[in-house]
Amino acid sequence: MPFRTLDQAGDLKSKRVLVRVDLNVPMQDGKVSDDTRLRAVVATVEALRAKGARVILLAHFDRPKGKPVPSMSLKPVVEPLAKVLGVPVAFAEDCVGPAAEAAVANLQDGDVLLLENVRFHPGEEKNDAGFADQLAKLGDVYVDDAFSAAHRAHASTEALAKRLPAYAGLSMQRELEALDKALGAPVRPVLGIVGGSKVSSKLDLLKNLVTRLDRLAIGGGMANTFLYAQGFEVGASYCEKDLKATALEIMQLAKDNNCELLLPIDVVVSERMEPNAPHFTRELDAVDDDERILDAGPKTVERLNAAMDSSATLIWNGPLGVFEVPPFDTATVDAARHAAKLAKAGKLVAVAGGGDTVSALNHAGVVEDFSFVSTAGGAFLEWMEGKTLPGVAALEV
Ligand code: 3PG
Repeated sequence: MPFRTLDQAGDLKSKRVLVRVDLNVPMQDGKVSDDTRLRAVVATVEALRAKGARVILLAHFDRPKGKPVPSMSLKPVVEPLAKVLGVPVAFAEDCVGPAAEAAVANLQDGDVLLLENVRFHPGEEKNDAGFADQLAKLGDVYVDDAFSAAHRAHASTEALAKRLPAYAGLSMQRELEALDKALGAPVRPVLGIVGGSKVSSKLDLLKNLVTRLDRLAIGGGMANTFLYAQGFEVGASYCEKDLKATALEIMQLAKDNNCELLLPIDVVVSERMEPNAPHFTRELDAVDDDERILDAGPKTVERLNAAMDSSATLIWNGPLGVFEVPPFDTATVDAARHAAKLAKAGKLVAVAGGGDTVSALNHAGVVEDFSFVSTAGGAFLEWMEGKTLPGVAALEV
């Protein structure tokens, strides 16, 4: 292994082990709507408890920008996490300082403690040395089990790893091994699907993807920006009109790199984003002013499925429509089931990643049939681009 693993950590009895996990879970109405990332924590926590360690979980939730934001507290995650782990989880109202120190001092061997959102402090995202020192005071050993946050050079993913003996957790290890196998040298042709709502953050990634993949299908909210850039009216749809030039630039870059761009060729629209709201399939030039594009249309899905049939590898990040609100889950579910069928038959290496993607694939009931489903979003894509992830680099031998 090019990185240090948990089995090299030696005797951990009574040691305070700071474990960076990713609890940036999807929430709906204040409740965890998908527990995949919670389940990803289990293996490492169990291994550490079995060794008699005192487990201190560090995590971020959302993007509070360096100050406490009550709606971004990790507190609502405590109960679901305890349920998944099958042991009580204590909670400290702060991740450093007196509250954290007292909670850590209370721990017995095998106990589990979750500290409040590390991003409530500006030092986290600044990878600040002083903040990392405060975190390091709480532990004897550091374990990073958050591959999905490893693309961030933050104090809890990077600076902290340099202050304590640092190891990859079991989920991190499994993820690195699987992605390397699937993406280290992918069998071509490689088809990418990128969708979802983090539009502006993904446009930059798209620029890189079109230089690496043979085909790239764009779906979800970001596709509207591309349709708009092509001159189509997108009505009341979510659309970043100011990114028109960027979208055109990406289309040209794809052309220059022989990457076939698959944009929607038909869409499903509705005036309301509500379950079973009246909806219609529209040609691209027939979207009314008060209509919102909420899903890809059937012709788009058919063409995408055909592209999967003629590809050897599929890399998927982001749903094709508003899959949380049926029937706008139709395109995502149909395409996911097609990919799963091909993967199960050994005809396609189907790799997917991203919080929303995992939820969507769970919703389609196909996670088991995919070749590998990563719990990571941005980190998954950056890894795919061959970028060095600071959180992984910090664990290298
Ligand atoms: C994710 O959800 O992809 C990770 O938790 C990272 O979150 P971030 O994009 O806010 O850094």
